[in-house]
This record gives sequence, C-alpha cells and structure tokens, in this order.
Amino acid sequence: MTERDRGHRVPTSDDLEVSTYLEIAREREGEQAVFEEEQAVAGPETIIVIDFGSQYSMLIARRIRECSVYCEIVPHTSSWKDIAHLNVKGFVLSGGPASVYAENAPLAPSFIFERGLPVLGICYGMQLLAHQLGGRVSPGEKHEYGHTVIHQAEPSELFADLPPAIPVWMSHGDNITQMPSGFRSLAYSDNSPVAVMGNDHGVLGLQFHPEVVHTPQGKQIIRNFLYGICGCRGDWTPSNFVADNIERIREQVGDGHVICALSGGVDSAVAATLVHRAVGDQLTCIFVNNGLLRREEPERVLDTFRRHLNMNLVYVDATDRFLRTLLDIVDPETKRHRVGEEFIHVFEEEADKVGRVDFMVQGTTYPDVIESASSPTGDGAAAKIKTHHNVGGLPSHMTLKLIEPLRHLFKDEVRQVGLAVDLPEEMIFRQPFPGPGLSIRIIGEVTPEKLNTLRSCDWIVMDEIKKAKLYRELWQAFAVLTDSRSVGVMGDFRTYGHVVALRVVTAEDAMTADWARLPYDLLARIANRIVNEVPTVNRVVYDITSKPPGTIEWE
Ligand code: XMP
Repeated sequence: MTERDRGHRVPTSDDLEVSTYLEIAREREGEQAVFEEEQAVAGPETIIVIDFGSQYSMLIARRIRECSVYCEIVPHTSSWKDIAHLNVKGFVLSGGPASVYAENAPLAPSFIFERGLPVLGICYGMQLLAHQLGGRVSPGEKHEYGHTVIHQAEPSELFADLPPAIPVWMSHGDNITQMPSGFRSLAYSDNSPVAVMGNDHGVLGLQFHPEVVHTPQGKQIIRNFLYGICGCRGDWTPSNFVADNIERIREQVGDGHVICALSGGVDSAVAATLVHRAVGDQLTCIFVNNGLLRREEPERVLDTFRRHLNMNLVYVDATDRFLRTLLDIVDPETKRHRVGEEFIHVFEEEADKVGRVDFMVQGTTYPDVIESASSPTGDGAAAKIKTHHNVGGLPSHMTLKLIEPLRHLFKDEVRQVGLAVDLPEEMIFRQPFPGPGLSIRIIGEVTPEKLNTLRSCDWIVMDEIKKAKLYRELWQAFAVLTDSRSVGVMGDFRTYGHVVALRVVTAEDAMTADWARLPYDLLARIANRIVNEVPTVNRVVYDITSKPPGTIEWE
C-alpha cells in the first residue's frame, strides 16, 4: 500500500483545506479552477530563483523575501516569456542533486545569460555557471559536507560588512577546476580553491549554501547580492503589498459580488480582510460551525469579523448535521471524508442564499502553489486531499472566479500582512487547527459528550501553555481523547475514566516535528487540572513520539 492509498495527511493549515474542498468539488463538476491571468504590471523589484530541484529552493526564496525583496521560484525549464511581466532585477540559480556532467543534467535557461542582469549561482547553480560559460567542473577528490570556513581572496560587494573569514555550510562533491574567462576566485576554503567566484558583470557563484541557518552570515551575503549587486531598494513590505493588492482586487472585482469561506484560521482571515478592505460590502463571508471547534471559537470568529471588522458574515450553526453524519464512524479517513462532504453541502446551500456571486476568495499561499506546481500530477494539494476527502460536487451554476490574494506569500508574510490590516494578534499567531477539527482528536466514535470532555481538556492545555508564555514557540499543543479507560482513585472511590493524551510539538513546518520538552511543572499543572476539573477523565499521558515516524495528530 502506498502512502497515497493510505490517505496522505494535509501538511498545512486548515484554511487550505476549506478552499481545496471547494476547488475539488468544482473540478468534479467538470469545471477547471479558473486562475486569473496575472496583469502585465511592473510590480515590486523581483529576483527569480531558478529551481534545479534543491531541497533548499523554498528556503532561498524565504531568505530573499526576509530582506524585503520579492522573489519567485520558477522551474529551470521556464522561458523568459513566463516571467517577462515581472520587474526582474536578478537571478539566483538554486542547488540541485545532479552533477553538471550527468546525462540529462538540467541546464540554466539561456535568458539568464542574455538579459545582462546579475546572477548568483548556489552550489549546483555555481557549477552550471562554470560549465555553461566555458569553465571546467570535476569530481572533487574529497567531498565537502558540513561546516567549513571560507577566506576572502579579494574584496567584493558580496562580502560587504563581513569579516575576512566566514563560516559556511558546504555540501558538494564536484569542484570547479577551471573558471570561465573573466571570472576570478573571490574566496577559498581548505578544500575549494574556488569557494566563491565572480566576474565584473555581477555574475557570481557560491560553492556553499548561504540560505541555511548553518551559514550564520548567509543572510548578509544574500542581502549584499540583492542590494549591493542587483541594486534593489527593498520595496517588498507588508504595507506596499496591502496597498497594491487592494487596488488590484478592486479592479478585478469591479461591481461583482464575492464570497469567502472563513475557517477561523489565519489564511482565510487575512485573505477575507484584504478583500473586505478592497470591496467592502460586496464581500459576504460564510462561517460554518461544524460543531467540532474548540470552546468559544465560533464566538471569537463572530466577534472579530462582525463586530470589529464590520463584515457581512453569514454564520451557520450546522453542529447537528455534522454530528449526524459522523454517527458511529470510527475510521479516521471516513471522518475526514464525511466532514469534507458535509462542509460542501452546507456551504453551497448558504452560497445559494447569498444571490448573485461572481468570485470566491481562497487563502491559498505560496507553498501550496509551489507544491502543486512541482507535484507529478500537477495538482498537488488537491490531489492529496482528494485521496481522503473524495467530496461531492458543487452545483454547476456556481461558476466562480478565484481571488487568491495570498498566492505569492509565505506563511510568515501572511502574518505580517495580517498585522498590517489590523487583525488581532491572537488570530494571526494562532496554532494550526485541522479542518476536521476535534473529530480526529477523539479516537473512535464522536459524541456530544466526548466533544464536551475534549473541549474542557483542550481549554486547560491552551490556558496553561499561554500562561507559561510558550504558545508561540510551539507548533501545536492539544489534548487527544483516547478510547482507553483506566482505573483510578478519588477520595475513597475507585474511578474508571477516560485517558487523555497531551500532544505538544515543535516544528518548522508540519512535515517533521519533535515532541516538546515542556517543563515538568507545567506538565504537572496541566495533568492536575485536567483530572480535577474534567469529571470523566482520571489519567493524563504525554506523547513523546516525533514525526516521523509518528504523525502530529493521532488520527
Ligand atoms: P499530521 O497529523 O499529518 O499533521 O502530522 C500535519 C499537520 O496537518 C494538520 N492536519 C490536518 N489539517 N485537515 C487539515 O486541515 C486534515 O485532515 C488534517 N490532518 C492533519 C495537523 O493538525 C498538523 O498541523
């Protein structure tokens, strides 16, 4: 059985899930998702990252964006036509697993040499520069992996504000044994006479990885390339993004009407708020309470969007419907499927009542886009959810165009934009919460009683984690209501109650995670409060499994 057959988990926020249900549903109706053509605008100064399959391409892009310069990742097969609409200031060639002499080794597209713009080749990208510009690359006698120190051989803009010796992270087997004409070695290491090379036209190569944290001054090197060599000024800021997008959304929508499914998560909240700023009452948000949310969650969403932001918000309490569809269901994937399907039904009914609708807002973010683009089937995110949600279709009369204001943003950028549009911090830094909600944190059948029990435990976990000021440091912290019961004593009585598991993890993204080494005192407080305050629970255990091999959720 492949991972896909087993039902792949969704490695991203709840918001993707809501929007993807709808996208999948439309595709099932035979309608392809409509992605609006990008307008031919100058836009922010842009660096193009040409991807040669490096595990670090996304990281390179994030580092560039952290320097307030916009960038996009494109496959090495791209043509200039694909990016000509952007205000391109330079190129970065990523690393990659291939050797430049391997058969079918991916090459840099010719336009990067023809445009006369600065180029920074990283690792494989550097070797390509040597190879394609007439130098020579040979297999190194020693492979160089891990920490090393490079020494500046001659001054360069690339090293502005940096010391003569710089610790870096290497990972390469091949070496440049002859530089192309016009290039000089700008830095060397013990094993690489050419650890950095460059010519007088801003074409540079690094044998090491400036994007990883193991190269502590890597970001300064990237910044020097962007500002010192490409001449960027740093116009990629949340407030510029907000202003540009409001303008763009207004133009796109005209006098049309827009709907948005709010999940309570950060992506849909930020997307909806941007669209609301642009078109005000032409936007109607729909928030479905599926009865699987945390305590006070529906009230919080209503308060934020209706009272503070004054949005048109349709609130549907569909608790009974969701609980009915989950009756007697114990299989995790069936739970996901049922919740997804019911969501579509409720959403389409409510959308029908709104009247004329032309557009739908989705909180798709850049990693979703990249993942879809690089998926072998070409529809990554959707394909993954499809395997376990397999939802029904929306009515064919719903021919909506998509508005995806976050399509180009990383998660931390979404948060910054959220702050720039005055969303409450509490909403912006919220831990991810799965679309199927508490249903996949109750092992076995979902009942109103169990939901209440789990909500009470979850409330205590959150309360204590927040009091300990650890909320933002943790990827997720939650309680799981297991299907085990255990014997205990309370006063003079023997009890036979639920076992609750605490799942608290740290992670950079949800692909891998480690169990959090919470202070014992904090664990003790949480356990104490749960067994004392939640009547049917008499035992608390702590999950010390990392991912892999465990998953973050228990179901
Ligand atoms: P796992 O359990 O696969 O979770 O390690 C990774 C991340 O995804 C979340 N998750 C989901 N999110 N629908 C969602 O929207 C789902 O069905 C789902 N399952 C897991 C999980 O909370 C974690 O952040």
